[in-house]
Amino acid sequence: MTELPIYPLTNEHKMLRDAARDFAQKEIAPIAAEFDESGEFPSETIKKMGELGFMGIEVPEQYGGAGMDSLAYVLALEEICKVDASHGVIMSVNNSLYCHGILKFGTEEQKKKFVTPIASGKAIGAYSLTEPQSGSDAGNMRSTAVRDGNFYILNGRKSWVTSGPVANYFVVFMMTDPTKKQKGVTAFLVDGNSKGLTRGKKEPKLGIRASATSELIFENCKVPAENILGKEGEGFKIAMTVLDAGRIGIATQALGIAEAAYEAARQYAGQREAFGHKIGQFQGTGFKLADMKTRIEASRLLIYNAAIAKEKAKNNNGRYSLEASMAKLFSSETAMYVTHQAVQIHGGMGYSKELPVERYFRDAKITEIYEGTSEIQRLVISRSELGMK
Ligand code: CAA
Repeated sequence: MTELPIYPLTNEHKMLRDAARDFAQKEIAPIAAEFDESGEFPSETIKKMGELGFMGIEVPEQYGGAGMDSLAYVLALEEICKVDASHGVIMSVNNSLYCHGILKFGTEEQKKKFVTPIASGKAIGAYSLTEPQSGSDAGNMRSTAVRDGNFYILNGRKSWVTSGPVANYFVVFMMTDPTKKQKGVTAFLVDGNSKGLTRGKKEPKLGIRASATSELIFENCKVPAENILGKEGEGFKIAMTVLDAGRIGIATQALGIAEAAYEAARQYAGQREAFGHKIGQFQGTGFKLADMKTRIEASRLLIYNAAIAKEKAKNNNGRYSLEASMAKLFSSETAMYVTHQAVQIHGGMGYSKELPVERYFRDAKITEIYEGTSEIQRLVISRSELGMK
């Protein structure tokens, strides 16, 4: 990795990054292909990552986390994603979609009860916004929560929940007043063992196959009113605020995938011979590598910029939607570009399961889709630039 002089890293940053790199190389690299093939959830390595503090990097130590900053989080996540994007998304969801939102909007009791087990690696968290008929148009949800004394009764179907089959706790968004549309959405903290909550079938996926994804089905699921995150009607804003943090995580996942594919292609281009030369000596390959490298470094700058904007926002309660969306848009499209070129540079070997390059190619695609498609990122960026939001 290039050291970027405009973002000098502290010794703590470097130590965490090196620890994540070491863990990823020693513990994840040997099993990544096998878990991709089987689609099994990598419980053991995820548990170890939790014990090392990787599931709550920005969570204060009093709630079981590592108490570090947003830049530290992306540095560690990048190292994990360079080796395996499935472990990466599980880490990203625990840190940003789950812990970040509860830390920002939760009460002291909620932080103790719902953040501590996830940040300390004893449990897994998930975030559930999407429904079968509402993905990009998240405000169009139909699942409902109706007050009943000191409880709410949750009904409906949620889809595409990362870690859905295995999570112990969920942040779930429900309609409490459908007449108010986005302003009628409320966020709830739900125990995975709640009566009336069942997990749907595990989704068979093109990539990130070791990360488990499923539907959640709520049938008269009773949740205590004290489990509302924020206030009734604030759910949509909470969902969007949390997604800003999540998008930096997915941008970092895309960066890690792109770096892995680039490094494989760079090495191959320096070894493979054709027509009496190393293929990297042909401009057709060399120029591809130049474009791949340049886009990767530009992605990194956008991601670090977004992480620093997120850190500043912790003090002034500001927004960093623009920075997060630009980082996600550019990095995910870079991951798709770089993995595509890496397969091409490898020729037939890029298409073979004997090398990880085809896995990087399959894993890259989701980064242009989840936590807001590239089209949604362009919407957020253009609305911001035009002063429409
Ligand atoms: N931070 C704070 N508030 C925000 C916000 C943000 N980032 N974005 C919007 N808001 C606020 C707005 O200011 C507005 O508030 P006011 O009415 O008080 O002004 C309110 O929320 C409604 O905003 P919009 O009118 O912009 O809402 P919209 O319906 O037009 O939607 C959108 C905007 C950007 C398209 C949004 O719906 C969106 O981001 N959609 C994509 C959803 C998404 O990313 N889904 C992925 C889910 S997670 C996943 O993939 C699975 C997983 O497990 C990883």
